[in-house]
Amino acid sequence: MTKIAVLVSGGGTNLQALLDAQAGGRLTAGKISLVISSKPDAYALKRAENAGVPAVVCDRKALGSQEAFEQAIMVALASYGIDMIVLAGFMSILSKSFTDVWPERIINVHPSLIPSFCGEGYYGLRVHEAALARGVKVTGATVHFVNEIPDGGRIIAQKPVAVKPGDTPESLQLRVMQEAEWVILPLAVQAVAEAIAKRKGGVQ
Ligand code: GAR
Repeated sequence: MTKIAVLVSGGGTNLQALLDAQAGGRLTAGKISLVISSKPDAYALKRAENAGVPAVVCDRKALGSQEAFEQAIMVALASYGIDMIVLAGFMSILSKSFTDVWPERIINVHPSLIPSFCGEGYYGLRVHEAALARGVKVTGATVHFVNEIPDGGRIIAQKPVAVKPGDTPESLQLRVMQEAEWVILPLAVQAVAEAIAKRKGGVQ
């Protein structure tokens, strides 16, 4: 069984989608064993508590440096024996020295069809603001492996979502979450957790 850590910074609706998938028997290859928040006031922490999942705060601001922040995350991951990391609305970029330790074991959900509207500076509502400003008629979400290039790792899953006349960044964000993110993230986590469990089984 692959032990999964979900890293969050905010509302945690994608974390909730994973918790619901687990409760509904759609996420069976792994177990959500830890939630790590980069912000002490993230609502995602409440979702973890409600689901009885242990949660740790690694406060990006209080820890001062990227090195101290990543070290704190590494310590938490090690102490829970984590095998796989899911970035679900995690608003910090991880350095190469971190991502190199977890090849094809970190996945991220991004609220656009990569390679559109991605990379540094494109996160949260900003992605949808950019999509509306460009006038695209189709957007969507992507789940991908995480490497040292922001939003640059191998793509695992994508789902398109129509932009509608009169959409605001908020209405578009909600539709992308409902129709794409909350659908493809649990499916991708199940598939990757299964692959990691097989690899683990193979070396034992
Ligand atoms: C989601 O739309 C997620 O795709 C996005 O932030 C939102 C977090 O919502 N992530 C990024 O933009 C990362 N580059 P949540 O906290 O409710 O899951």
